[in-house]
Amino acid sequence: MLTPVTPRSWYLIGKSKDFKVGKIKQITIHNHEFIITRQTTGTVVAWSNRCPHMGADLSRGKIHNDELVCPFHAWRFNDKGECTHIPADPESLGCNRKLKTYPIYEMFGLVFLNNSRKPNFDLPFFDDLKEKMLIAGKPFKIQQDAAWYVVSANAFDVSHFIHVHNRIPLKDPEIEEIGDYGKRIKHYYRIKPSNVIADKILGTLFGREGTLEYTVYGSNYILAKSSFGRFTNHMIIVLQPEADGKSTSTIALVTDVTGNSFATKLAKRILLSFQSFFTKRFFEAEAKEILGVKVNHNSLHSSDSVLKDYLDYVDRVLGLQGSHA
Ligand code: FES
Ligand SMILES: [Fe+2]
Repeated sequence: MLTPVTPRSWYLIGKSKDFKVGKIKQITIHNHEFIITRQTTGTVVAWSNRCPHMGADLSRGKIHNDELVCPFHAWRFNDKGECTHIPADPESLGCNRKLKTYPIYEMFGLVFLNNSRKPNFDLPFFDDLKEKMLIAGKPFKIQQDAAWYVVSANAFDVSHFIHVHNRIPLKDPEIEEIGDYGKRIKHYYRIKPSNVIADKILGTLFGREGTLEYTVYGSNYILAKSSFGRFTNHMIIVLQPEADGKSTSTIALVTDVTGNSFATKLAKRILLSFQSFFTKRFFEAEAKEILGVKVNHNSLHSSDSVLKDYLDYVDRVLGLQGSHA
């Protein structure tokens, strides 16, 4: 198993309203710092936080006419990272030092950043929600005392579903590779009667049999779709490595509001808040179960074959994409 690096992939960095015109917001992914702003055109831009001149902390700079001004010698950079003005040499037409910029994707109120200047894959999304009008719940974060690939391996750890989630498998899960960077598992199960409130509500309203379709891209970006009867929960889970082999999940639920009236949209927004509340509790409980868990090929049993296969996928994907430089 490769030691934890920062996957070159997509990260969910916040809601659209977190990024305002003329304001600089700094974010950190593992040890890498980025600064984000919104242009007057509405486009969100991401730069490296280190000035290419002498490495000043650009989060202390300011925005002037949609350009970033370094706090140290006031060099200016445009949204392509090109240096457009050097106050100490105003006659020059900028310089050949470029500030690194990074891809941003904004959709239905969520903002995603790729920490690779040339993304290995486009931002993945649910096939059944493409071209729909969507709203997203407020993203929430869960801290885990386990590496990100241990967390993303969770749905491939088939045997924990009975013990941790009260899910009895109805048949073997279906597993499929999705392009070079994706891996999907689909579970079919029945909920075991228990005192878990969310499961009681689901069972009463929509029946006890359901599916979980869980697709991981780039080892850290997950689209999870859980269905019970007419009820479907779409969830984006983005894992971020942290220091000391820990990780953070940022999770957002999305729902389709295509053609809905204002009142229905409002009702769906309220439902989304309830779903987010229960989902957060679910993940908090799971974070306790995986506290300090380590996964490697040597510790696994033959009954963990799906999980072993997943670890091979992680190794392959990290080998393909490398770590963030
Ligand atoms: S360090 Fe940024 S302009 Fe000199
Ligand atoms: Fe789990």
